[in-house]
Amino acid sequence: MRILFATSEAHPLIKTGGLADVCGSLPPALKRLRHDIRLILPAYPAARAAAGKLETVAEFPLAGSEQPVRILEGLLPKTRVRLYLVDSPLHFDRAGDPYRAADGRDWQDNHLRFGVFARAIVKLSLDQAGLDWKPQVLHCNDWQTGLAPALLSQHGERPATLFTIHNLAYQGLFPRHAHEDLILPPEFWGMYGLEFHGQLSFIKGGLVYADHLSTVSPTYAREIRTAQFGHGLDGLLNTRAHDLTGILNGADYRHWDPAGDHHIARRYSVEQPEGKVECKAALQAHFGLEVNPDIPILGHVGRMVAQKGVDLILSACEPLLATGQAQLVILGSGDRTLESRARAMASRYPGAMGLHVGYNEALAHQIEAGADLFLMPSRFEPCGLNQLYSLRYGTVPVVRRTGGLADTVIDADAHHMAEGTATGLVFDGPTTEALGEAIQRGLTLYRDHAAWARLMQHGMRQEFSWDRSAQAYQDLYKRLVNR
Ligand code: ADP
Ligand code: GLC
Repeated sequence: MRILFATSEAHPLIKTGGLADVCGSLPPALKRLRHDIRLILPAYPAARAAAGKLETVAEFPLAGSEQPVRILEGLLPKTRVRLYLVDSPLHFDRAGDPYRAADGRDWQDNHLRFGVFARAIVKLSLDQAGLDWKPQVLHCNDWQTGLAPALLSQHGERPATLFTIHNLAYQGLFPRHAHEDLILPPEFWGMYGLEFHGQLSFIKGGLVYADHLSTVSPTYAREIRTAQFGHGLDGLLNTRAHDLTGILNGADYRHWDPAGDHHIARRYSVEQPEGKVECKAALQAHFGLEVNPDIPILGHVGRMVAQKGVDLILSACEPLLATGQAQLVILGSGDRTLESRARAMASRYPGAMGLHVGYNEALAHQIEAGADLFLMPSRFEPCGLNQLYSLRYGTVPVVRRTGGLADTVIDADAHHMAEGTATGLVFDGPTTEALGEAIQRGLTLYRDHAAWARLMQHGMRQEFSWDRSAQAYQDLYKRLVNR
């Protein structure tokens, strides 16, 4: 099958979160199933640099763009997936983050930037770019690609469209004038179109106009149809309930496996687990913590936003640090208030808490390998990847029962421990107390060496490989093309 896969992030080209992990691994997995899948992204400077050899294969004018847009062709590194980068210097030739300026504020012209991206996607989808290639399916991801299914819906002969929701909280909302700036058809305005309470919503372009919708776990697919998780879009999603599928993400074990990880102090595996002790000592040393194999390390890596519950981590862990029951290591950046709360706490517990505010790929791997428990008290979590990585690294995940976390971690209650199926600690309420209790249950198990080894080993044996999920996407594409 011929599939055009559109995204604003893909590892190792450009990454701000899990979207990049998914979009860097799902297309290669589909390629392994022998599909002609091609990836399209904006030509951010970082993406161009990481892509290596590129060739200009098309150039065309686009509505809303003064300069012609060029398509640069290459390969997604270390794969055979063909890559198209949409080069519009006015829109994408900017340093740093794909969405924000250095001062942390969104680029003021994001609607124009992702408008140009969507129009370029449409051009390729309709085989109007001169590439002599016509996809049967256009697979779009998150709001940055939302206008593409909307614009395509106006064409008779077009590929089937699938829109995947990776996070409903990010909707791409812009003031009303964006609708005129983007020269969108007047009929797109209105509550059954792209309007969302007086604003222009990019994500609605996908939710309303794509032939089919998917999201990244079965539980999140159910949750987003409720007012609690729907971010105001649950009504719309309920009208599309028959076109909404939950497909669990996979983990890319080419990058996330302690047996082959070149970022960590010593490699290890479930058969030869000895190296984990060394990784733990290296992590303690890195952060200037007491190097002691017997003190459990609680780890966390993530965007510092309300979704991830870093505030809960800080308040639940403070008493543990104060009493020397555990050490805490956090890597993340985002919300300035959360960052400074974390900084203040780290300075109160210098020998017990390690904090790195920023983005650091290698350190993310070192925390996965060196920590004993991994904390993910997310308020909502469409899928979550770090719990999958933690399982493979023998770092027992402590997660809230929501979204993909609920679908991937099995609680170490008496029943699952006896049965030998437990893989982590799962709790319900989004509160400091509930997280605190789950951590305490974890620490009790940690002191029981035999039980802990069983829990770790069972987690390490879990398989969340992309092959299974790619198969599910393939089945979905087939259904869409045949209907
Ligand atoms: P989300 O997509 O909501 O951010 P996921 O759990 O799906 O959450 O994926 C997050 C990904 O981003 C993981 O690969 C994680 O290791 C990575 N990540 C998040 N924050 C950082 C950071 N500060 N430094 C390095 N990697 C990070
Ligand atoms: C989003 C979600 C996360 C998910 C990722 C990849 O950023 O917050 O839960 O794992 O997308 O699908």
